[in-house]
Amino acid sequence: MNVKHRKSLQTVCCAVVFAYFMLLVYQTFGGVRLGVVVNEEVRSDKFHYRERSLTEDRSQTEMEVPLELTSEFATATATVKPPTTTLDDIFISVKTTKNYHRKRLPIILKTWFQLARKQTWFFTDTDDAEFQLKTNGHMINTNCSSSHSRKALCCKMSVEFDSFLNTDKRWFCHFDDDNYVNVPRLVRFLGDYNPKDEWYLGKPSIQAPLEIVKKEKKTVKKIKFWFATGGAGFCLSRALAVKMMPFASNSRFISTGERIRLPDDVTMGYIIEHLLKQPLTVVDQFHSHLEPMKFIRKDTIEDQLSFSYAKAKEEWNVVKIDGFSETEDQYRFLSLHCFLFPYFSFCPRRR
Ligand SMILES: *[C@@H]1O[C@H](CO)[C@@H](O)[C@H](O)[C@H]1NC(C)=O
Repeated sequence: MNVKHRKSLQTVCCAVVFAYFMLLVYQTFGGVRLGVVVNEEVRSDKFHYRERSLTEDRSQTEMEVPLELTSEFATATATVKPPTTTLDDIFISVKTTKNYHRKRLPIILKTWFQLARKQTWFFTDTDDAEFQLKTNGHMINTNCSSSHSRKALCCKMSVEFDSFLNTDKRWFCHFDDDNYVNVPRLVRFLGDYNPKDEWYLGKPSIQAPLEIVKKEKKTVKKIKFWFATGGAGFCLSRALAVKMMPFASNSRFISTGERIRLPDDVTMGYIIEHLLKQPLTVVDQFHSHLEPMKFIRKDTIEDQLSFSYAKAKEEWNVVKIDGFSETEDQYRFLSLHCFLFPYFSFCPRRR
């Protein structure tokens, strides 16, 4: 090969490499959040997952790969987007107790449960034939005590956690029986995260991390950690749940809770933040009854993941939304549901 040929070959090579690079840059920064991309580059394990998920769900992938490009290129672009998340990837658990079945479950069954009937399970402390029928067999008697004690709460969380591990779902999302869950929003939200990475997604209800004193042999140690309030709902990725197994699976969640003498959601934070050193990712769109519901603006309702209600002294802490009258809809969940999903048959027909 003479010098002239080699030069032109080099030029062509450079041009090809440059074009490939520009395409990558375009695919990377065109429409995908920067944070996610940076993560991708740092964590090579994600890269492999993404590669696999592309071959698995090639038919479902939303990416448009130009026809003339090779599969090599398709693999490169596949690192950009988390795997497609569907409702079936999520295990939704709702903690309840026998005295609340009649009071709190009917409105859930009438509204958001209808959007996730196969994915939602109720964890309670008794057998209830009526609600077993109404939920299509989705009531689970944990055999835990029906008291509101720390041990009873940790006992239920332990059964919820083990039940999730027994499925092949990618996400575990826990809620309480006074939560309204915005199901399609939850699916879209989790789509931004990769379940093969360790994710603890939720919202604290205190302004600073919790500080507890831990006695180890003869030394006393202060430890600090954040926890997601159970009453607002939180989600764990499967990868995180698997890492938690030594401290949480097969009823070990109860003994861990007993050791630190704190409620279920605090125990969750202790295991994840303190023992596993995985930080809580704060998600403002989860809402517990500990915060005033009336401050959720109407134009942001569709973005929220969960809502709640409570009676605080004489006043009801409920979402401020028009719709049904207060006597028909004390908790405002019917009005909320019709605002989000007006096609439901019980919603007023729009003119
Ligand atoms: C609760 O007890 C019943 C009867 O012993 C048993 O069949 C069931 O599996 C138990 N439930 C759980 C969640 O362990």
